[in-house]
Amino acid sequence: MRDRLEQLKGEAWKRIAEADETGELDRIRVRYLGKKGELTELLRSLGSLPQEQRPEIGRLVNELRSQLEGRLHSRLDTLQTEELQRDLARETIDISLPGRRPAVGRKHPLNQVLAEIEAVFMGMGFEVVEGPEVELDYYNFEALNVPPDHPARDMQDTFFITDDILLRSQTSPVQVRIMEKRQPPVRIIAPGKVYRVDLFDATHSPMFHQVEGLLVDEVTTFGDLKGILQVFVSALFGKGRGVRFRPSFFPFTEPSAEIDIECIMCSGRGCRVCSNTGWLEILGAGMVDPRVLSKVGYDPEVVQGFAFGMGVERIAMLKYGIDDIRLFFENDMRFLAQF
Ligand code: DAH
Repeated sequence: MRDRLEQLKGEAWKRIAEADETGELDRIRVRYLGKKGELTELLRSLGSLPQEQRPEIGRLVNELRSQLEGRLHSRLDTLQTEELQRDLARETIDISLPGRRPAVGRKHPLNQVLAEIEAVFMGMGFEVVEGPEVELDYYNFEALNVPPDHPARDMQDTFFITDDILLRSQTSPVQVRIMEKRQPPVRIIAPGKVYRVDLFDATHSPMFHQVEGLLVDEVTTFGDLKGILQVFVSALFGKGRGVRFRPSFFPFTEPSAEIDIECIMCSGRGCRVCSNTGWLEILGAGMVDPRVLSKVGYDPEVVQGFAFGMGVERIAMLKYGIDDIRLFFENDMRFLAQF
């Protein structure tokens, strides 16, 4: 029995020393100490030994059992440390590789242009105000001198929500809302989104941005309007950029004008962008129609005003030479990162 124990011990020590992965140690544990393990069986067979040998052999078996457990444990420790060292060596970070920069966001080009426009007018004493995008027919049309069924409504194909509620088709209704609340002098610009039933193509979008301007005071002339818009054009498109006022029609201004700047592409010589005219239209303007002033309770005999309105996308497209309005709304970083 003693010999058998010695032999078992020798084998076990050898196996443990040779084990080179932690799984192997598990198998050794089962082989000797498991339910049907060799040492466990030995312990069970003690009953068949002569009475006087039992205590001595029992003690030896138990001793071997705890030695075996100790060895398994310390070998496990060693193997785990080795495995960790191997993993660490394999997984070291190569600090000579270039890092990956996180993408940094930036201001959308439309917001950049809008901020520029606002800065120019704030510099001339205009206050920035806002109005609702879901608007009453009254403010979007009627108070602006466009009665129901008036042909001027066809100039803007409008999203109606009910008979008298719509998505504003222009920022001009903010003029009326402000004048209703305040007494002259009024000097505001009103930026914001507007909506029109248009197909989405290179030059149209069913949603776009406008900036409205309004100045009402006791003495306001067409000359003031020209001066202010001239300052605006110089600030956005550079000093010396030609500006031209062309007679036009808007229901809420009289007289009305459309303002053109010298073509950005050809500087007035004529090219494809300006349809060979040398000019690009950038905004509408005029003297506020006395009927609009009367509607809000102002006395047109005492005060006059001028107003103007422009499309932010159009200005940004001209300023940066962008030929497709859809680029503003696709959120492609390759486009947005250029500004
Ligand atoms: N609301 C006009 C449009 O969307 C633009 C406009 C023209 C606004 C003349 C004005 C103005 O205030 O005086 O077409």
